[in-house]
Amino acid sequence: MTWLTLLLLGLVMLLVLLVVLQPDSKGMPPGPKGLPLIGNLFDLLWEDSPRYFNRMAEKYGPLYSLQLGLRRVVVINSSHWLTQAFVRQGDMFNHRPRGTVLSFIMGGKGIADAEDQVWRESRRFTLHVLRDFGMGKSSVEAYVNRELHDFLETTQKKVGQPYDVHYDLATSVLNIVWHMFVGERFTMGDKNLKWIVDSLEMSLTLVEQGGFLNYTPMLQFIGTFLKPKAFKVGANVKHRLDYFTQLIADHKNNLDNPDRPFDFMYEYLAEQRKQIEQGRKDIVFTDNQLKWLISDLFIVGLDTTVTTLRWCLLFLVRHPEIEEKLFQELDSVIGIDRHPTYEDRLRMPYTEAFINEVFRYGSITPLALHGNPEETTLNGFRIPKRSWIIGNIYGIHWDRNVWNDPENFRPERFIDKDGQLIRSENVVAFSVGRRNCLGESLARIETFQFLTGMLQKYKFGVPEGHPIPGLGCQCGVTLNPKPFDLLLTERSAKAG
Ligand code: HEM
Repeated sequence: MTWLTLLLLGLVMLLVLLVVLQPDSKGMPPGPKGLPLIGNLFDLLWEDSPRYFNRMAEKYGPLYSLQLGLRRVVVINSSHWLTQAFVRQGDMFNHRPRGTVLSFIMGGKGIADAEDQVWRESRRFTLHVLRDFGMGKSSVEAYVNRELHDFLETTQKKVGQPYDVHYDLATSVLNIVWHMFVGERFTMGDKNLKWIVDSLEMSLTLVEQGGFLNYTPMLQFIGTFLKPKAFKVGANVKHRLDYFTQLIADHKNNLDNPDRPFDFMYEYLAEQRKQIEQGRKDIVFTDNQLKWLISDLFIVGLDTTVTTLRWCLLFLVRHPEIEEKLFQELDSVIGIDRHPTYEDRLRMPYTEAFINEVFRYGSITPLALHGNPEETTLNGFRIPKRSWIIGNIYGIHWDRNVWNDPENFRPERFIDKDGQLIRSENVVAFSVGRRNCLGESLARIETFQFLTGMLQKYKFGVPEGHPIPGLGCQCGVTLNPKPFDLLLTERSAKAG
């Protein structure tokens, strides 16, 4: 065979590949034209996906499509289209994309990555148990306040010295959900927990939800799993799952104890037993599913809220004038002699505006990744079966047409001329529709209680000789501020 024949053969094979693999984008929303087979994939090498998707929306509008590797991706960059897709057509767009690095690790189990019956039953059951805990009512505040109390005691020892609050905050936030889910709490400074938090954050940046590797089926495993931290993360995931397996075994041993406490895991195992006794064939309440479900709740219950509170502290440190306004409102509504309650927020519009602005600016979970099991239409455009539907939460929060100056941190944008709170449908930090955040009420209570509790006790500053912490962040599944040190100064009197 001559070189020429080989070359021709190569060209023919390339053409066949192009025809067979090139995704059919006929009738889909308009968008940037990319290269054959690769599409616009390489753009993601230079820019974080939420920012890139937002930039493309300035050119192609709030609903557009693009090809990333071999994936057909539809990007939603406005709250209007987010509602149309995830709420109005919520039954169609409630799947998750397959083939992501995350879905490889999670295999469709648990809740956040599950679909169909497993997802429906897990979500319904989890919501039901959370309601029994009094989610959205005052009883859940008791769990939050207990951890807040321990947190404030711990921070007391750090007054006057450079302090990275991250791990103590993580311990307290995790304890809130962990107490509810499995009846356990970690002690402050627990070495095992520090290791868990590190490994979790490492995995969340490793899988970078909207990043380059997710769209390259062949490269993603090589690319992801050859990263130096991948082995460490892999070992840590196993360690975490072994710990959950042990918890399940302990709960099973104690299930018939009439004095056992009330927690999510016991409720789940009791439901599992009931369904087995009823002889249900299609049972989804298995030990394996429970292990992944707990793992999901552990991850989402920890990282998102800690990140939110770290953004809050970052803005307090960067804007002493905003901190002062928050304290003035707090002092006039609550004072410093009693603990804040979640009800107090109704008389604290500036604090609510600050939290809204943190949710907008920080866009903690920048992308909501959905999929559609069947071909459908959206705004008259064809959406082929199993497209990736990306709700660009970050893009909605940073849309210049909506916010004018999205790059400025300005709680006042949520305050009207009478000093009242403006509620905006363009803040969608918890997403919308059938798959919206299941822990929204809890997260809102945690944020308000911790923020006001901390403000009541401390002024926040930058330690001498340290730079003012910047706004740069690490983009993984969540947008995380880089590590920074605080200086706590006690306010003169103490609450409670
Ligand atoms: C400020 C903190 C939080 C933010 C900003 C946040 C945001 C989100 C977002 C954007 C989603 C994806 C929604 C979608 O795909 O459309 C989500 C899903 C989820 N969140 Fe949260 N979340 C927070 C805290 C929590 C907490 C504390 C819990 C747990 C108790 C929780 C439980 C969940 C669960 C289980 C899902 C998956 C829902 C499903 O797939 O059906 N989240 N969250």
